[in-house]
Amino acid sequence: MEEMRLQKYMALCGAASRRAAEHMIEEGRVSVNGSTVTGMGTKVSGNDTVCVDGNIIKPEKRKYYILMNKPAGVLSASKDDRGRECVVDLVQGVDARLYPVGRLDYDTTGLIILTNDGEFMQKVTHPSFEVWKTYRAVVKGVPNETDIRKFAEGIMLEDGKTLPAVLDVVGYKGNNAIAEISIREGRNRQVRRMLDRIGHPVNSLTRISFGTIELGDLKPGKWRFLSPEEIEKLTEVR
Ligand code: URA
Repeated sequence: MEEMRLQKYMALCGAASRRAAEHMIEEGRVSVNGSTVTGMGTKVSGNDTVCVDGNIIKPEKRKYYILMNKPAGVLSASKDDRGRECVVDLVQGVDARLYPVGRLDYDTTGLIILTNDGEFMQKVTHPSFEVWKTYRAVVKGVPNETDIRKFAEGIMLEDGKTLPAVLDVVGYKGNNAIAEISIREGRNRQVRRMLDRIGHPVNSLTRISFGTIELGDLKPGKWRFLSPEEIEKLTEVR
Protein backbone atom coordinates (compact mmCIF):
# COMPACT_ATOMS: atom_id res chain seq x y z
CA MET A 1 0.00 0.00 0.00
CA GLU A 2 1.27 3.50 -0.93
CA GLU A 3 2.05 6.02 1.76
CA MET A 4 -0.87 8.31 2.49
CA ARG A 5 -2.00 10.94 4.96
CA LEU A 6 -3.23 9.55 8.25
CA GLN A 7 -6.75 10.94 7.84
CA LYS A 8 -7.10 9.31 4.38
CA TYR A 9 -5.92 5.99 5.84
CA MET A 10 -8.52 6.31 8.62
CA ALA A 11 -11.26 6.92 6.06
CA LEU A 12 -10.06 3.90 4.07
CA CYS A 13 -10.38 1.86 7.25
CA GLY A 14 -13.97 3.03 7.67
CA ALA A 15 -13.01 4.60 11.02
CA ALA A 16 -14.42 8.03 10.08
CA SER A 17 -14.82 10.46 7.21
CA ARG A 18 -11.64 12.45 6.51
CA ARG A 19 -13.06 15.48 8.26
CA ALA A 20 -14.10 13.52 11.34
CA ALA A 21 -10.69 11.80 11.30
CA GLU A 22 -8.99 15.19 11.57
CA HIS A 23 -11.02 15.97 14.68
CA MET A 24 -10.12 12.60 16.18
CA ILE A 25 -6.44 13.31 15.52
CA GLU A 26 -6.70 16.76 17.11
CA GLU A 27 -8.42 15.21 20.13
CA GLY A 28 -5.39 12.92 20.63
CA ARG A 29 -7.38 9.73 20.00
CA VAL A 30 -5.08 8.42 17.27
CA SER A 31 -1.68 6.76 17.59
CA VAL A 32 0.80 5.53 15.00
CA ASN A 33 3.17 2.76 16.06
CA GLY A 34 2.39 3.48 19.70
CA SER A 35 2.87 7.27 19.64
CA THR A 36 -0.07 9.66 19.84
CA VAL A 37 -0.29 11.95 16.83
CA THR A 38 -1.94 15.38 17.02
CA GLY A 39 -0.48 17.15 13.93
CA MET A 40 -2.04 16.85 10.47
CA GLY A 41 1.02 16.02 8.35
CA THR A 42 1.63 12.39 9.38
CA LYS A 43 1.84 9.81 6.60
CA VAL A 44 1.35 6.09 7.03
CA SER A 45 1.56 2.94 4.94
CA GLY A 46 0.31 -0.62 5.39
CA ASN A 47 3.33 -1.42 7.59
CA ASP A 48 2.32 1.07 10.29
CA THR A 49 0.07 0.22 13.20
CA VAL A 50 -2.66 2.82 13.56
CA CYS A 51 -4.93 2.84 16.61
CA VAL A 52 -8.08 4.86 17.31
CA ASP A 53 -9.02 4.97 20.99
CA GLY A 54 -6.52 2.16 21.52
CA ASN A 55 -8.05 -0.16 18.88
CA ILE A 56 -6.07 -1.12 15.79
CA ILE A 57 -7.77 -0.12 12.53
CA LYS A 58 -7.17 -1.83 9.19
CA PRO A 59 -8.27 -0.94 5.65
CA GLU A 60 -11.70 -2.35 4.91
CA LYS A 61 -11.52 -5.02 2.27
CA ARG A 62 -14.99 -4.55 0.87
CA LYS A 63 -17.10 -1.45 0.67
CA TYR A 64 -20.77 -1.77 1.57
CA TYR A 65 -23.61 0.52 0.54
CA ILE A 66 -26.94 -0.30 2.11
CA LEU A 67 -30.34 1.27 1.60
CA MET A 68 -32.61 1.00 4.63
CA ASN A 69 -36.13 2.06 5.46
CA LYS A 70 -35.58 3.43 8.96
CA PRO A 71 -38.49 2.72 11.28
CA ALA A 72 -39.66 5.34 13.80
CA GLY A 73 -38.09 5.00 17.24
CA VAL A 74 -34.67 3.94 15.96
CA LEU A 75 -31.64 6.21 16.16
CA SER A 76 -29.75 7.04 12.96
CA ALA A 77 -26.37 6.30 14.55
CA SER A 78 -23.95 3.40 14.78
CA LYS A 79 -24.15 3.21 18.56
CA ASP A 80 -25.91 4.92 21.42
CA ASP A 81 -24.53 5.54 24.91
CA ARG A 82 -28.05 5.18 26.31
CA GLY A 83 -28.59 1.77 24.73
CA ARG A 84 -31.31 2.80 22.28
CA GLU A 85 -31.68 0.77 19.11
CA CYS A 86 -29.64 2.14 16.19
CA VAL A 87 -30.07 1.69 12.43
CA VAL A 88 -26.82 -0.28 12.31
CA ASP A 89 -28.28 -2.84 14.77
CA LEU A 90 -30.91 -3.73 12.15
CA VAL A 91 -28.26 -5.00 9.71
CA GLN A 92 -27.17 -8.57 10.31
CA GLY A 93 -24.59 -10.57 8.40
CA VAL A 94 -22.41 -7.68 7.20
CA ASP A 95 -18.93 -7.88 8.63
CA ALA A 96 -18.02 -4.18 8.58
CA ARG A 97 -18.33 -1.08 10.71
CA LEU A 98 -21.26 0.75 9.14
CA TYR A 99 -22.20 4.39 9.57
CA PRO A 100 -25.40 6.17 8.53
CA VAL A 101 -25.00 8.78 5.78
CA GLY A 102 -26.52 11.89 7.37
CA ARG A 103 -29.29 11.74 9.92
CA LEU A 104 -33.00 11.30 10.26
CA ASP A 105 -34.79 12.32 13.45
CA TYR A 106 -35.75 9.57 15.90
CA ASP A 107 -39.38 9.81 14.76
CA THR A 108 -38.69 10.22 11.03
CA THR A 109 -38.98 7.10 8.90
CA GLY A 110 -37.67 6.26 5.46
CA LEU A 111 -34.61 6.21 3.30
CA ILE A 112 -31.23 6.12 4.96
CA ILE A 113 -27.98 4.89 3.45
CA LEU A 114 -25.43 2.99 5.55
CA THR A 115 -21.85 2.52 4.47
CA ASN A 116 -18.33 1.78 5.60
CA ASP A 117 -16.91 4.01 2.83
CA GLY A 118 -15.78 7.22 4.52
CA GLU A 119 -14.91 8.93 1.22
CA PHE A 120 -18.36 8.25 -0.22
CA MET A 121 -19.97 9.51 2.98
CA GLN A 122 -17.95 12.70 2.95
CA LYS A 123 -18.76 13.36 -0.71
CA VAL A 124 -22.51 12.94 -0.55
CA THR A 125 -22.97 14.76 2.76
CA HIS A 126 -20.70 17.69 1.93
CA PRO A 127 -22.80 20.90 1.73
CA SER A 128 -21.33 21.70 -1.71
CA PHE A 129 -22.77 18.43 -3.09
CA GLU A 130 -26.28 19.82 -2.49
CA VAL A 131 -28.01 16.53 -3.05
CA TRP A 132 -31.81 16.85 -3.28
CA LYS A 133 -33.69 14.91 -0.61
CA THR A 134 -37.43 14.42 -0.83
CA TYR A 135 -39.74 13.82 2.11
CA ARG A 136 -43.41 12.91 2.29
CA ALA A 137 -45.20 14.48 5.25
CA VAL A 138 -48.67 14.53 6.66
CA VAL A 139 -49.00 18.15 7.79
CA LYS A 140 -51.60 19.96 9.85
CA GLY A 141 -53.98 21.87 7.57
CA VAL A 142 -53.43 22.47 3.88
CA PRO A 143 -50.56 24.68 2.59
CA ASN A 144 -51.66 27.21 -0.05
CA GLU A 145 -49.98 28.94 -3.00
CA THR A 146 -48.37 31.54 -0.72
CA ASP A 147 -46.76 28.77 1.36
CA ILE A 148 -45.50 27.08 -1.78
CA ARG A 149 -43.98 30.37 -2.97
CA LYS A 150 -42.34 30.92 0.43
CA PHE A 151 -40.65 27.52 0.12
CA ALA A 152 -39.49 28.38 -3.40
CA GLU A 153 -37.92 31.60 -2.07
CA GLY A 154 -36.33 29.95 0.98
CA ILE A 155 -37.63 30.05 4.54
CA MET A 156 -36.03 32.17 7.26
CA LEU A 157 -35.09 29.92 10.21
CA GLU A 158 -33.16 30.67 13.43
CA ASP A 159 -29.96 29.52 11.73
CA GLY A 160 -30.50 31.61 8.57
CA LYS A 161 -32.48 31.44 5.36
CA THR A 162 -32.76 28.04 3.68
CA LEU A 163 -31.92 27.48 0.04
CA PRO A 164 -34.94 27.47 -2.29
CA ALA A 165 -37.01 24.36 -1.63
CA VAL A 166 -40.01 22.65 -3.16
CA LEU A 167 -43.37 22.10 -1.48
CA ASP A 168 -46.12 20.17 -3.25
CA VAL A 169 -49.51 19.13 -1.94
CA VAL A 170 -50.04 15.59 -3.30
CA GLY A 171 -53.11 14.46 -1.34
CA TYR A 172 -55.39 14.92 1.63
CA LYS A 173 -56.04 13.07 4.87
CA GLY A 174 -59.19 14.44 6.44
CA ASN A 175 -58.53 18.15 7.07
CA ASN A 176 -54.81 17.66 6.65
CA ALA A 177 -52.56 17.55 3.62
CA ILE A 178 -50.07 15.03 2.36
CA ALA A 179 -47.13 17.09 1.13
CA GLU A 180 -43.87 16.37 -0.64
CA ILE A 181 -40.95 18.56 0.34
CA SER A 182 -37.59 18.64 -1.44
CA ILE A 183 -34.56 20.32 0.10
CA ARG A 184 -30.88 20.29 -0.77
CA GLU A 185 -29.41 21.01 2.64
CA GLY A 186 -29.24 18.84 5.72
CA ARG A 187 -29.80 21.11 8.68
CA ASN A 188 -31.04 19.71 11.95
CA ARG A 189 -34.83 19.09 11.84
CA GLN A 190 -34.96 21.30 8.76
CA VAL A 191 -38.20 20.06 7.19
CA ARG A 192 -40.06 20.15 10.50
CA ARG A 193 -38.83 23.67 11.21
CA MET A 194 -39.70 24.91 7.71
CA LEU A 195 -43.23 23.53 7.98
CA ASP A 196 -43.62 24.94 11.52
CA ARG A 197 -42.62 28.33 10.15
CA ILE A 198 -45.47 28.37 7.60
CA GLY A 199 -47.96 27.18 10.23
CA HIS A 200 -48.38 23.59 8.96
CA PRO A 201 -46.52 21.43 11.49
CA VAL A 202 -45.60 17.84 10.68
CA ASN A 203 -47.70 14.93 11.92
CA SER A 204 -45.47 12.31 10.30
CA LEU A 205 -42.38 12.47 8.11
CA THR A 206 -40.78 9.94 5.75
CA ARG A 207 -37.81 10.43 3.46
CA ILE A 208 -38.60 8.92 0.05
CA SER A 209 -35.52 9.85 -1.99
CA PHE A 210 -31.90 10.88 -1.68
CA GLY A 211 -30.54 12.22 -4.95
CA THR A 212 -31.18 9.55 -7.57
CA ILE A 213 -31.88 6.84 -4.97
CA GLU A 214 -35.53 6.05 -4.20
CA LEU A 215 -37.00 4.22 -1.23
CA GLY A 216 -39.47 2.31 -3.42
CA ASP A 217 -41.51 -0.34 -1.63
CA LEU A 218 -38.90 -1.31 0.97
CA LYS A 219 -40.77 -1.91 4.25
CA PRO A 220 -39.76 -0.19 7.54
CA GLY A 221 -36.84 -2.03 9.16
CA LYS A 222 -35.85 -3.73 5.89
CA TRP A 223 -32.69 -3.09 3.89
CA ARG A 224 -30.98 -4.05 0.65
CA PHE A 225 -27.60 -3.49 -0.94
CA LEU A 226 -27.38 -0.62 -3.42
CA SER A 227 -26.18 -1.72 -6.86
CA PRO A 228 -22.89 -0.34 -8.30
CA GLU A 229 -25.03 1.50 -10.90
CA GLU A 230 -27.09 3.20 -8.19
CA ILE A 231 -23.94 4.33 -6.38
CA GLU A 232 -22.34 5.57 -9.61
CA LYS A 233 -25.45 7.52 -10.58
CA LEU A 234 -25.72 9.11 -7.15
CA THR A 235 -22.11 10.22 -7.02
CA GLU A 236 -21.98 11.53 -10.59
CA VAL A 237 -24.85 13.96 -9.97
CA ARG A 238 -22.20 16.69 -9.43
N1 URA B 1 -35.87 17.20 8.28
C1 URA B 1 -36.43 16.96 9.47
O1 URA B 1 -37.07 17.82 10.04
N2 URA B 1 -36.27 15.74 10.02
C2 URA B 1 -35.57 14.74 9.45
O2 URA B 1 -35.47 13.65 10.01
C3 URA B 1 -35.00 15.01 8.21
C4 URA B 1 -35.16 16.25 7.64
